[in-house]
Amino acid sequence: MKNLTRRKFVKDSTWVTGGIVLAPSVLTSKPMFKIEKVLKLAVVGCGGRGAGAVSQALQADKNVKLVAMADAFQDRLDKTFENLSKMFDKERLAVNPSKKFVGFGSYKKAIEEADVVILATPPGFRPQHFEYAVEQGKHVFMEKPVATDVAGIKKVLNSAKLAKENKLNVVVGLQRHYQRSYLEIYKRIQQGDIGKIVSGQVYWNSGGVWVRPRQENWTEMEYQMRNWYYFNWLCGDHILEQHIHNIDVANWFIGEYPIKAQGMGGREVRKGKDHGQIFDHHFVEFEYPGGAVISSQCRHQKGCLNRVSEIFQGTLGTSNTGGTKTALKLYSGEQLYTHNGDRDKNPYQVEHDELFSSIRSGKIINDAENGARSTMTAIMGRMATYTGKQITWDEAMNSGHKLVPNEDLLSWQSNPPVVLNASGNYPIPIPGITYDKK
Ligand SMILES: NC(=O)c1ccc[n+]([C@@H]2O[C@H](COP(=O)([O-])OP(=O)(O)OC[C@H]3O[C@@H](n4cnc5c(N)ncnc54)[C@H](O)[C@@H]3O)[C@@H](O)[C@H]2O)c1
Repeated sequence: MKNLTRRKFVKDSTWVTGGIVLAPSVLTSKPMFKIEKVLKLAVVGCGGRGAGAVSQALQADKNVKLVAMADAFQDRLDKTFENLSKMFDKERLAVNPSKKFVGFGSYKKAIEEADVVILATPPGFRPQHFEYAVEQGKHVFMEKPVATDVAGIKKVLNSAKLAKENKLNVVVGLQRHYQRSYLEIYKRIQQGDIGKIVSGQVYWNSGGVWVRPRQENWTEMEYQMRNWYYFNWLCGDHILEQHIHNIDVANWFIGEYPIKAQGMGGREVRKGKDHGQIFDHHFVEFEYPGGAVISSQCRHQKGCLNRVSEIFQGTLGTSNTGGTKTALKLYSGEQLYTHNGDRDKNPYQVEHDELFSSIRSGKIINDAENGARSTMTAIMGRMATYTGKQITWDEAMNSGHKLVPNEDLLSWQSNPPVVLNASGNYPIPIPGITYDKK
């Protein structure tokens, strides 16, 4: 590993986004692994998270080499390769120019080259890429969410089953499951320290994310692919794309997936030309089989209260995770636990440490089924806010909901599944009028 670049890379990247971060111990320590079989790594989706995940995989195990890369766009792939080259030498970054693949079909060629694959494109493509990786017998690290529609969820559930049968490791980038503060609180809730969870509030309220404005020479397909956050077939709306983290914590801590959802949402400030079709706020109530009710809020509006956290009320006390106040306390006021994060490792790194250690030891991690069910929870929430109706899990799963076109319909010249209407706008869901179960 090249040692001059730590300061520069740490400057631009943090735990929070899962970008490239070098742990000081990695820069200075001797190799921690005995010489073992080289594991060949491929990355599909060479953006911010793809680059971060490659860096973490290479730091997790000294005998991993990146051998293939795939991206829809040449410039994105080249930029990520250039950034990684500042950190790792050719020994680790062993990507022959002929193994850099570009375009919609590039994933197949990259996956075929590897033992382990990182899937980090926008989530609309995840089911297709995951299915192929599992069919090819590869271990997988895939980012959340794992789909944007119900058809995709069903595909991921099938592939998760196959991965299990074939003893493949699958880690999903819901990194709170690999974060010590969450694991400590989870353990104590399981022990019954705050009793049975009866309600909770989960939040991802922030100022929003990047916009990639339309360029004159782009086709409609290229525009949507580059500005993917604002198109549901690619992104799934921010209730799915970001807030899944907090919704997933509710599912995890309660130990169930909700049976129904109802809620409201809309767009107040997201009215620009490049804001596509997604909402800027959603509020959903999820009801669980055991009776717990979780209120979920997500907002992308600047100048408002920012909060990314989870609070649960049990029969005996409360828990608080996220932010700086991770703790458990009883209703009597007694503080049962306060988390001290001084020794916590970067959970984005821990995900890869555990993935490669499991591959080496033969222990199997399979996060895919939970990844699919938590993604489905957020999709059900989106159906509730778009329609303004109450949606049950079974209705949602049986709805035939499909946003992502079949692969043979994707090309730079073809129309994406959503296009501008006669008034020059993308169709935006209207609660009470839109009935978006299809
Ligand atoms: N776990 C986390 O905290 C976390 C943090 C950031 C991002 N993510 C997830 O990672 C994924 C990617 O996000 P990002 O921020 O890296 O986005 P990005 O736009 O920076 O990168 C996505 C890359 O995928 C490429 N791509 C798009 N379609 C493709 C296709 N069909 N085949 C190959 N390449 C394709 C794009 O060209 C782009 O380079 C998202 O699902 C996001 O939710 C997770």
